[in-house]
Amino acid sequence: MRLERFVKLMNEAGYEGALISPGTNLYYLTGINLHEVGERPALLVVSSEGQYRMLAPGLYENVLTNFPTTFWRDGENPYEKLAWILAEFHLSSGKLLIEDTMRADWLINIIRIANRGFEFHPLSSVMRELRMRKDKGEIEAMEHAAKVVDRVFEEILTWDIMGMTEKELALKIELRIRELSDGISFEPIVASGENGANPHHEPGNRRIRKGDMLILDYGARWKGYCSDITRTVAVGRPNEKLIEIYDIVKEAQEKAFRAVREGVKAKEVDRAARETISKAGYGEYFTHRTGHGLGLDVHEEPYIGPDGEVVLENGMTFTIEPGIYLPGLGGVRIEDDVAVIDGRGRRLTRTGRELVIL
Ligand code: CO
Ligand code: CO
Repeated sequence: MRLERFVKLMNEAGYEGALISPGTNLYYLTGINLHEVGERPALLVVSSEGQYRMLAPGLYENVLTNFPTTFWRDGENPYEKLAWILAEFHLSSGKLLIEDTMRADWLINIIRIANRGFEFHPLSSVMRELRMRKDKGEIEAMEHAAKVVDRVFEEILTWDIMGMTEKELALKIELRIRELSDGISFEPIVASGENGANPHHEPGNRRIRKGDMLILDYGARWKGYCSDITRTVAVGRPNEKLIEIYDIVKEAQEKAFRAVREGVKAKEVDRAARETISKAGYGEYFTHRTGHGLGLDVHEEPYIGPDGEVVLENGMTFTIEPGIYLPGLGGVRIEDDVAVIDGRGRRLTRTGRELVIL
């Protein structure tokens, strides 16, 4: 059981306990997913002795039927109940892990009731060891999420997108992902023409027209696990410079993919992409890291950047997504999801990377 492995790691690292608010870590450890908790405090309390209990709003009484839980109703003070649980678990001092993404207002209240010499540390420092290496079931879920985005891309190529606004196309992509999966892993990016020079462009009212390079970056979620794909397509024949950078990015992406193997550092994968783009003279226009870990979160460890010291192992999953962004002209990015399996990289997203001219 994952919670037991977590308690073991927590002990080895000298932590007394952990307070885990809803999110992917809670889901990973318990399968619990509390929808729309908002400002109402909900926490899993875990002690190094292996005791655990949820504190949750009464709204979830019909959801948390199979998990030891203390409920609090609107009008009651949840932090008083938290203090009781801490006392029951003999948690009064020492190193305490706190979910990194916990709301600050919750943590401020926790500090108020627990000012007895606790030392707070980020939960991710322990969780990363568990989550970075995916098991078979996790990889299967990611393969499914990747198949969905491949399929959506092949469908997009059949749509009549000329004249659509970026927002309209983004919505259409989102709808199709939702029909085929559990939902989107992030809001789709549609960047047309000069907007493609902004890696995280928010789709707007610009209409897609002839000569555009069009960056499409979107992802699906399946059983909690994310996919994340980028393809760049041409609408009509684009500027020669954009075709030139397309070929460079494609080569950089391939070289980085080939650099993936068990035992190499993440930064060596980054270097393979970066060297290719730098040698072609566009180094200063590749403005971000080559990729990021992918799993329950769309960005997680291991990060594939120039400072990536993580040594790649079987079961690690991440994106490879070099890009070149030319202000005023546009951009190109190609992104695949990759898993390390049997010592080598395996692409989870597999739809074509040849330049398509629509
Ligand atoms: Co992406
Ligand atoms: Co990405």
